[in-house]
Amino acid sequence: MCGIVGATGTAAVQATLLEGLSRLEYRGYDSAGIAIQNTSNGAFNRVRVVGKVQQLVDQLEQKPISGSAGIAHTRWATHGKPSERNSHPHMLDGRLTLVHNGIIENFLELRADITARGGRFESDTDSEVIVHLVAEFIHGGMNLAEAVRRGMSKLEGAFAIGLMSSAERGQIVAAKRGCPLVIGIGKNANFIGSDVLSLRSFTDRFLFLEDDELAVLDSEQVTIFDGDGNQVDRATEIVLDQGDRIDKGGYRHFMEKEIHAQPESIRNTLEGRITSSEVVAQTFGIEAVDVLEKTEALTIVGCGTSFYAALVARYWIEDLARVPCDAEIASEFRYRNAALPKNSLFLSLSQSGESADTIAALRLAQTRDYLHTMNIGNVTTSTLMRDSDSAIAMRAGVEVSVASTKAFTTVLVDLLLLALVLARTRGFPGEEEREIVRALHTLPEKIEQVLGLKERMQTLAEEFVTKKHVLFLGRGTHYPIAMEGALKLKELSYTHAEGYPAGELKHGPLALVDRKMPVVAVAPSNELLRKVQSNLQEVRARGGKLYVFTDEGTEFVPGPDVTIIEVPEVHRVLSPIVYTIPLQLLAYHIAVHKGTDIDQPRNIAKSVTVE
Ligand code: AGP
Repeated sequence: MCGIVGATGTAAVQATLLEGLSRLEYRGYDSAGIAIQNTSNGAFNRVRVVGKVQQLVDQLEQKPISGSAGIAHTRWATHGKPSERNSHPHMLDGRLTLVHNGIIENFLELRADITARGGRFESDTDSEVIVHLVAEFIHGGMNLAEAVRRGMSKLEGAFAIGLMSSAERGQIVAAKRGCPLVIGIGKNANFIGSDVLSLRSFTDRFLFLEDDELAVLDSEQVTIFDGDGNQVDRATEIVLDQGDRIDKGGYRHFMEKEIHAQPESIRNTLEGRITSSEVVAQTFGIEAVDVLEKTEALTIVGCGTSFYAALVARYWIEDLARVPCDAEIASEFRYRNAALPKNSLFLSLSQSGESADTIAALRLAQTRDYLHTMNIGNVTTSTLMRDSDSAIAMRAGVEVSVASTKAFTTVLVDLLLLALVLARTRGFPGEEEREIVRALHTLPEKIEQVLGLKERMQTLAEEFVTKKHVLFLGRGTHYPIAMEGALKLKELSYTHAEGYPAGELKHGPLALVDRKMPVVAVAPSNELLRKVQSNLQEVRARGGKLYVFTDEGTEFVPGPDVTIIEVPEVHRVLSPIVYTIPLQLLAYHIAVHKGTDIDQPRNIAKSVTVE
């Protein structure tokens, strides 16, 4: 999704802006641009490219731009196709320039009004209306900051913006509503960025804007104003570098590195959160025991992979704690008038902490009668982690690949810990908790063992390269894992894939099964195994080709149309976590064979900051 970076200082900023942009690449984008102010006359030099940040770097190497203040952008097209004229920064008469992340929902009306007043648009974007609106207020005699504040009041939708004017040299005005934007405080320089990571090389001191606030930056100071123009005092926060290195560490792709990091990320998320025999309740906040004791129902929301984690959690929470639990797609929840059971806990899941739909779901929950709002996230400075009543870190480490892997398995671990603490408040037997906790201690080694399936998945992947459709089946907690396996395959290899509960097969999807249709089954040894085996017979009877992930001794018989992949045996509660890994490996290797853009698949983004 679009990324913003800006810098104003006493030294040249081109390299700073390019470094910031390269740190935002993981979010997904299709074009990039930069505008730097010539501080002696206030004029802007702008370069925009369709494609990668590296192309911008190459162009600027040939013809560098000097200047000590500028803004830059990576664009993920929403309104108007990826093209140079639709790329940011947008500019008006060479005097005003803008970068924007988000969507202006009333842009058509605004554009019509501005056009009627004589404004001329150069792009098809919604963003360009902002620069026109602000320019009109400047023409009316306002300074840049005041014009931006007035302009904002006309905008509907979500935005993070950075603007510069030739009249106010060395000044950046930044504002946000519903989209992420952070301010970095440096020495003789100040910065704006879409996240802390983008500014990580320049500072560890940050200011966080609230919605509808505006910041005015120059090389010496940052001043924040609220929507009415009153100055706001905001404490600087130190965000320490957690040693997350943004490199591939010898792997071909970030995704491959992140798949292989899972033993370590799971070890990290467990650290200090389990003793030898039980889960530490304070993991979920000081008031956790009190809140969980009062909790009579849960609503868990998330998007994509985070939603699948919510679905697994629903099985765990209802099974272990016997507490009713709803798992919802955030974009549905936010517009649904959901009935709210008494004493409900609202839990949001989000790797980025900036998914617009999940934030909107939290905002809705904050207006309803929830007992408490909680978030499990991977970015401690994110909106969801900051704005929920309590927040628990996944500790997955930075996840760069657009396709989520280690964030999914770590959030599953945290959700299981939550289910166990909740279960304890409902009298769950200590011996059973001990048994699961003992199994959790061995989980990282189990994951290491499953990663040993890498070569097997590499070879198996060849059989999928020419397939147009793949069906993934599972039951119980493995039904969401089947959906997650299908999502990984879609995202990475652009192969159509569906995840289904195996029991639903005969209610429709069986019609798709023929010799050309691979069917991947997630079938660990548990109380549903016999049921899954019967469902798979239905596939065999129609000539479907089966790939069964199962553990030793499950009596699946390999044959020309049945491939068995043995997964190390694990406590039944933990199997959804373990069975995720081979499906990640399979999707990854199919994508390698197909030669797709694995870390940044087409059309999708890491941090989905627009609705
Ligand atoms: C996962 O592989 C996807 N890229 C996507 O579904 C993602 O999980 C979703 O956009 C939610 O993101 P979040 O966890 O950052 O909120």
